[in-house]
Amino acid sequence: MILVTGGLGYIGSHTIIELIKNNYEVLVVDNLSNSKREVIDKLKKITGKEIPLYISDLCDKKALRQIFQDNKIDSVIHFAGFKAVGESVEKPLMYYRNNIDSTLTLLEVMEEFNCFNMIFSSSATVYGSPKSLPIKEDFPLSTTNPYGSTKLFIEQILKDLYVSNNKFNITILRYFNPIGADESGLLGEDPRGIPNNLMPYIVKVATGELETLSIFGDDYDTCDGTGVRDYIHVTDLARGHVLSLKNQHGLRIYNLGTGHGTSVLELVNTFEKVNNVKINKKIAPRRAGDIAECFASCDKAFKELGFKAEKTIEDMCRDSYNYVKNNK
Ligand code: NAD
Ligand code: UD1
Repeated sequence: MILVTGGLGYIGSHTIIELIKNNYEVLVVDNLSNSKREVIDKLKKITGKEIPLYISDLCDKKALRQIFQDNKIDSVIHFAGFKAVGESVEKPLMYYRNNIDSTLTLLEVMEEFNCFNMIFSSSATVYGSPKSLPIKEDFPLSTTNPYGSTKLFIEQILKDLYVSNNKFNITILRYFNPIGADESGLLGEDPRGIPNNLMPYIVKVATGELETLSIFGDDYDTCDGTGVRDYIHVTDLARGHVLSLKNQHGLRIYNLGTGHGTSVLELVNTFEKVNNVKINKKIAPRRAGDIAECFASCDKAFKELGFKAEKTIEDMCRDSYNYVKNNK
């Protein structure tokens, strides 16, 4: 059985669909801090499977022990955590406490119950400002905000744990920019309040909930002056987890991206074209902390896992909008 922490969230829920397609049995722990209970019903509708759900905080060791006592858990995919960069700057202690405490508690309980297989959600943010592109897994690591630091610290904790006990199989996945939604239109990304990330913002301008998209800078040294990122469809990202699970051995680290950069303007233009909508936009100053360009080298994940992203930017734009239109 696979324990999916944070399984009601955006990436966790999409990964559960792929796990069930591959005949894995799944169990979810989530504290609803950034998700809704109804996701479990939608997962049932999509997969036809009843999925056991524990509404519980991973920092609650007693509750977690009980979950491990009651279920035969072979592997854990650990998505749970807070993820908003700006909020992490305002509330660093809340971010360190939640992301690190929950991970330490989880690892202690895993060790206690002889569960040694773990996949961890890291982020391309751990590469800081890369010296060259594409970004390879062995590039130097650094961070510029508390959220990124929690990812870097947890990576180090996992590396130290592996050295101390090499019964562990630990895979660290560094995600680039996940967007898109399940093709059913039932699941997708639903951030609370005003979104910080580009795709959720574009979608809200398309639905009329927000008036104008601010493009943060048009004077970067990129193809059209706007920021370039490696957007990956969340369903492709989810498949990457299944391949990682099937290839666990020792400590492994992989980028999950497409290897292709797309600029803000290119993404907006594609969104307008495939969805036949107009996005009001204006050029605004650069956002503090942003880098000009970022995209992954995907060679290692391809060679060792057979992972290759398949969905296009068109798919990502269509599916992101489709979810929000269906769930307004
Ligand atoms: P999300 O917020 O949608 O999902 C995280 C889930 O974890 C939520 O359902 C939340 O309720 C739950 N959670 C948080 N703290 C918890 C705790 N202490 N106990 C139990 N449940 C808890 O986020 P997501 O976009 O699905 O991201 C999943 C993981 O991937 C996160 O660790 C995030 O940092 C990482 N990541 C995300 C992105 C991205 O762009 N979405 C990029 C890189 C890395
Ligand atoms: C952000 C986080 C990163 C995190 C990632 C995934 C920052 C500085 N970085 O990355 O740590 O891992 O999300 O959650 O917050 N843009 C606009 N207008 C907007 C929003 C964004 O022009 O309203 C631009 C940005 O300047 C950037 C691109 O769109 O060039 C993508 O931005 P975003 O979706 O926030 O992702 P990242 O900045 O890559």
